Amino acid sequence: MKIIVCLWFVLGALSAAGKVIFTTVGQRATLECGAVSFKNSLEWRQGDDRIVFVDKKGFPRHGKAAVQTRSKRRGDTDLDIFPVRKEDAGTFTCTADGNPQVHTLLVGSVSVSPPAELKVGSNATLLCEIEGLNPDSVKTVQWIGVDKNVRSRTAQLENVALTDAGTWKCQFSHGGETFSTQLEIKVTEPATKTTPAPKQSSKVNGKKINSTICAQPSCADSGVAHWWMWVAIGAGCLVVVLLMVSVIVLYKRIRRRKRNLHLMKNGRQAQRPRQYCQCNHQTAAAKPQQGRQKGRPSALPLQPLLKE
Ligand SMILES: *[C@@H]1O[C@H](CO)[C@@H](O)[C@H](O)[C@H]1NC(C)=O
Ligand SMILES: *[C@@H]1O[C@H](CO)[C@@H](O)[C@H](O)[C@H]1NC(C)=O
Repeated sequence: MKIIVCLWFVLGALSAAGKVIFTTVGQRATLECGAVSFKNSLEWRQGDDRIVFVDKKGFPRHGKAAVQTRSKRRGDTDLDIFPVRKEDAGTFTCTADGNPQVHTLLVGSVSVSPPAELKVGSNATLLCEIEGLNPDSVKTVQWIGVDKNVRSRTAQLENVALTDAGTWKCQFSHGGETFSTQLEIKVTEPATKTTPAPKQSSKVNGKKINSTICAQPSCADSGVAHWWMWVAIGAGCLVVVLLMVSVIVLYKRIRRRKRNLHLMKNGRQAQRPRQYCQCNHQTAAAKPQQGRQKGRPSALPLQPLLKE
């Protein structure tokens, strides 16, 4: 009996040359079974709970493991988990045809507090949490800065500088392997440029600029004044153009009317008889020849007469 148990352990140890998979919260983890295919059965377990059991015919039976609803078989034997959560960290066993392989899933999450862009001169904390590590490997967790300097798992940044911006790496080792994940840190200059701006403009004016429209260039600092100024200028230009157009149109109309009156007066006295004469003369001359082509030139001599 003892021999059988021993054999079982040895076999287990040999076959359990499982992998360590590291991913971060919200990402996808692909767990490789270790066996490419199976003949009779395949089973994935999370800890002691079954995720899925697949029989000879390929018919799957799902279990009650917490990760079950977020997992999917990939290919014949592998397992995808998406999105990965912190609590998924732990052991996963794939048993293909009774041959178990125990894998370890490590789940990391890196963050910076405060979470927004860091301001120059402020303080910040970088956090690196890796779930699923044993106490020994937890000790190896460390941050490596942009400057390649090594800091602790919880890195305190005092007096943040622009040179702190860039890619920080959280690194650890587990079972002789080294893993890492990255965090992009952004650093901005403190708002020294934006705070004096309102002060300057309010000094120049002495009054609040918000509601007033002012033409001074210093006022253009205020976005509201700027916006209204352009609208006002645009409206003013439009009005001026409209006025000019209507004045021109009016002037032309008046001139035309005067000219017409003038023509009518003159025409009654002198030009009418002449016009009648020409018209009668030409149409009479045109009739014997082709009507349309000769009709046109007859209109031409009329125009200069009307204009003068
Ligand atoms: C940053 O931390 C140091 C030391 O803890 C402290 O003296 C300083 O006031 C802090 N600065 C800010 C901006 O909070
Ligand atoms: C002017 O704007 C500032 C912020 O830009 C606001 O706090 C203030 O109440 C405004 N004043 C008026 C009179 O609208």
